Amino acid sequence: MTTVDPAPPPPMRLRELVFGAACAAAVRAAARLGVADALEDTPMTVEDLASAVKSQPKTLRRLLRALACQGIFVERPDGTFAHTEMSRLLREDDPHSLRYIALWCTEPWTWDVWPKLDEAVRSGRNVFEDVYGKEFFEYLNEEAPESAHVFNRAMTTSSEQSARDVANLLDLSGVSSVADIGGGQGQVVASLLEKHPGMHGTLLDLPGVVENADPRLREGGALADRVSIVARDCREDIPVQADMYIIKNILEWDDDSTRRALANVRKAARPGARVVVIENLVDDTPSMRFTTAMDLLLLLNVGGAKHTRQSMVDRLTDAGLVIGEIRPVNPYLHAFECTVPR
Ligand SMILES: C[S@@+](CC[C@H](N)C(=O)[O-])C[C@H]1O[C@@H](n2cnc3c(N)ncnc32)[C@H](O)[C@@H]1O
Repeated sequence: MTTVDPAPPPPMRLRELVFGAACAAAVRAAARLGVADALEDTPMTVEDLASAVKSQPKTLRRLLRALACQGIFVERPDGTFAHTEMSRLLREDDPHSLRYIALWCTEPWTWDVWPKLDEAVRSGRNVFEDVYGKEFFEYLNEEAPESAHVFNRAMTTSSEQSARDVANLLDLSGVSSVADIGGGQGQVVASLLEKHPGMHGTLLDLPGVVENADPRLREGGALADRVSIVARDCREDIPVQADMYIIKNILEWDDDSTRRALANVRKAARPGARVVVIENLVDDTPSMRFTTAMDLLLLLNVGGAKHTRQSMVDRLTDAGLVIGEIRPVNPYLHAFECTVPR
């Protein structure tokens, strides 16, 4: 049985924290091996689990013990293992699955950049370009197809989970067209079009991303005749007219890219158009540990930052947008509702 002190004394807690990489690696290993998918509702012996995930029982037990210390799987008195709420989230078929998010946050490139965090803090710049010789998204889409796939799946899961919240939050009265800038594979657009049958949607993202757009939006898909797909770098231009522009989890890169993307929205949008920016904030949020960790990873890979409420307000104001309501979308996200001045 695995028992863990829920509030260890500070020296033990610090020892645990500096081994955070072991914890992340253990979650990644379980996700890659498919342990959570192999374990059904009935508890299983390590031997049966090992044969299901093609591993050695002894080493699988060590992995499971390390995870059980974190509340991921539980060891029962008879030595079998069972699911916990957290381990279920590693199943691919769980409706709230975090399997691809877990893989994304622990992709091979992350292990190359974390050791250089002190360098990035000193210089204020990303370290990715020094390590890999090109911009992060260029690298991802041109040289790391497996990582790009994981990224797109992770974005899709988190988008699917937040798209419904976004669709429920937004009042779309008077809106007949909506454009999602950097909209990934289009889950938000698809949710909005499904909810509002008269509406037209545009999905704009980089070419390598939109070519794998949600099947509902692609040729032959149920929503295809109401959607335009635009493969474009939104820092270059945004050739899209819409009543409402959505920009979700994009403006967390470097400031220059944010300025260029917002300037292009302003150039494209007619006076009175609505611009809804949705971001995770590093203040005023219940998910501080996760968001501050993502903030550091963004520094390392794109020289970016998660925003505070004020820094987001400043960027939007600088872009000449008029800010209306700022509202939580869910425990992770806030929406800044803006309009283009008349
Ligand atoms: C964190 S994801 C957010 C995706 C989606 N908006 C969502 O919230 O699920 C960032 C997105 O920005 C896209 N992106 C990155 N650079 C871009 C650029 N220069 N022009 C357009 N899209 C870009 C990525 O391909 C990715 O889909």
